[in-house]
Amino acid sequence: MLLHIPGVFSPDEVLRIREALEQAEWADGKVTAGYQSAKAKHNQQLPEGHALAKEIGAAMLERLWKNPLFMSAALPHKVFPPLVNCYTAGGSFDFHIDNAVRQPKGNAERVRTDLSATLFFSDPQDYDGGELEIQDTYGTQRVKLPAGDMVLYPGTSLHKVNAVIRGTRYASFFWTQSLVREDSQRALLFEMDGAIQQLTRDVPDHPSLIRLTGTYHNLLRRWVEV
Ligand code: NI
Repeated sequence: MLLHIPGVFSPDEVLRIREALEQAEWADGKVTAGYQSAKAKHNQQLPEGHALAKEIGAAMLERLWKNPLFMSAALPHKVFPPLVNCYTAGGSFDFHIDNAVRQPKGNAERVRTDLSATLFFSDPQDYDGGELEIQDTYGTQRVKLPAGDMVLYPGTSLHKVNAVIRGTRYASFFWTQSLVREDSQRALLFEMDGAIQQLTRDVPDHPSLIRLTGTYHNLLRRWVEV
């Protein structure tokens, strides 16, 4: 399941983030790539643990933890702290699948990468190319969202970032280990939760709501790993 989560940051907030990123000192993106993907990766990244990356990452996660769409779709257990990257002057990242397990620097706890997320800090008109291409069960999706918006997609997907041939593309990305490992099960729960939320708004006193909500939790209990 591929999900667009709009407005994680407002246009004003994104502007301030971008101004800070324009002043930052960048490192080669290959430092966090595996052996194979280092050959495919041509971009720049704020080093892991960089103060600005930590500040942006903390603000992102605080927003997302209060975002009903993210919570319902990702059912997050833990995350790998967001990294910030920059593609410019022909920079690209060829097709790859992300490593299954990630260990944050200075942290013993590893994260299984069930879900990937990219939050865009540059507006689509500020650069050419730079689409995130994701191969999903329904074919290839090309994602290029307004600044402040985020896309969430299964960590199992083959994906790439097309070359940026004009301007600069700033973005942040992170991985989430979900309480529910399988994308298909998460997608069912997300659908059901959405339907229950809508019924709760439209017919709040309907007696079946309690049964449906109970069934949601009984399915979740069946599939959850904590
Ligand atoms: Ni990737």
